Amino acid sequence: MNTKISPIIIAPSILSANFAYLGAEIEKVVMSGADWIHIDVMDNIYVPNLTIGPMVCESIRNITEVPLDIHLMVESPDDIIPKFAKSGANIITVHPETTKHLDRTLSIIRDQGCKSGLAFNPSTPLNYLDYIMDKVDLILIMSVNPGFGGQEFIPSTIIKLKEASDKIKNWKEISGSYVSLQVDGGINANNIKQAHVAGANVFVAGSAIFNSKDYASIISLMRSNAMSDL
Ligand code: DX5
Ligand code: ZN
Repeated sequence: MNTKISPIIIAPSILSANFAYLGAEIEKVVMSGADWIHIDVMDNIYVPNLTIGPMVCESIRNITEVPLDIHLMVESPDDIIPKFAKSGANIITVHPETTKHLDRTLSIIRDQGCKSGLAFNPSTPLNYLDYIMDKVDLILIMSVNPGFGGQEFIPSTIIKLKEASDKIKNWKEISGSYVSLQVDGGINANNIKQAHVAGANVFVAGSAIFNSKDYASIISLMRSNAMSDL
């Protein structure tokens, strides 16, 4: 399974797909150039919305080879992490506020054979990264408040991406390890370059892709816009 970091990873969020035709939607978006599939898991406690669990993840795993990027927006995620791992998850990302013992939670993700991610809401400080960079494969910077697709990109995210990018560079110098930088929320063909310049290399996009008529064109436009002048 290819979860390695290439210059630009486009990860369509199926939150904005037509759930009545989920399999067909996923096959279509993969054929259109999606690098990963981003799956938003919401529990109606940590965020005010309810989505999907490991059974749906397993069904998706059965129809595609692309990495499945699980974004857990659930309270106390430790028990559900192994279930997603067994259902074919490749990357599992948690929010620091959802667990009492973040170091342990990140270790559980890796012990299950997955890459570990840590997600930051717009108001969540990056200092949660202090002392645990060695446990993190991916940092997710939320550019909207979690819970819903189709929201506006929050501009101050760019400053935060730069700060996260600096931490990643420092960590690379110290440890030689590379941490991926993902941005999630309100990403589209117009703002993707700004996020890439700020250091992001993994771009989640839900409504920008699934609300468009031609998934291949929008994915290709996002990729070329991100890379332009770089
Ligand atoms: C929000 C989710 C996002 C969302 C992105 O809580 O984490 O992944 O689906 O959707 P857009 O791209 O429409 O903002
Ligand atoms: Zn997400």
